[in-house]
Amino acid sequence: MRPNGGPREGVHDLVAARYSPRAFADRPIAPELLRRIFEAGRWAASAYNEQPWRWLVATRDEETGFERLLSTLIPFNQGWAKHAAALSISLARTSFERNGKPNRHAFHDVGQAASNMAIEAAANGIAIHQMAGFDPDLVRERGLVAPGFEAVAAIALGYPGDPASLPADLRERELALRERRPLRDVVFGASFGQTAGFARDR
Ligand SMILES: Cc1cc2nc3c(=O)[nH]c(=O)nc-3n(C[C@H](O)[C@H](O)[C@H](O)COP(=O)(O)O)c2cc1C
Repeated sequence: MRPNGGPREGVHDLVAARYSPRAFADRPIAPELLRRIFEAGRWAASAYNEQPWRWLVATRDEETGFERLLSTLIPFNQGWAKHAAALSISLARTSFERNGKPNRHAFHDVGQAASNMAIEAAANGIAIHQMAGFDPDLVRERGLVAPGFEAVAAIALGYPGDPASLPADLRERELALRERRPLRDVVFGASFGQTAGFARDR
């Protein structure tokens, strides 16, 4: 999906194909595919099967809704995300429905759902770009979230576009080699900081 490098080391093609573009093609996502992407999110694992996720979604042709979600993004993100085929804001229910106790894994589980969505999207030639750069207070102030829920992340969805359509600084970032910390720096044995044996040469 992206020519200049993705995860290697034998990970599945779909994991390798996923990336977060800022250039989007001027092409809508068919409702059936949108449904499939959120369906993949719905099938994520969650603590106690609480399924704390909810999503606000607007496609670009739903102008009022799209503008409503877009306007909660920081200006930097608005600049490129306005070209996405659809925008979403993920929400988490922060306490358990069963007993009202705080669910400290609610954000974790909403993130897992986003990862499922990203892989399902990649399998269909679509990309999602998650964003922390939005104003959750604005989402609340505008009454977009029910009590007991918190806005987690904004998400742009669309078919990847031509990096040439981006301003120079973003184009450079779009085409830069994707990098990650080496496995040996992040996977430990049972002691923090001591690389797991299988990760030593990676
Ligand atoms: C929770 C989260 C928040 C992010 N926030 C932003 C953001 O506000 N703006 C942006 O341009 N990219 C944002 N990103 C995208 C990351 O920068 C990107 O995932 C990272 O650089 C790795 O690139 P890749 O997804 O293409 O592998 C965010 C990603 C995640 C998962």
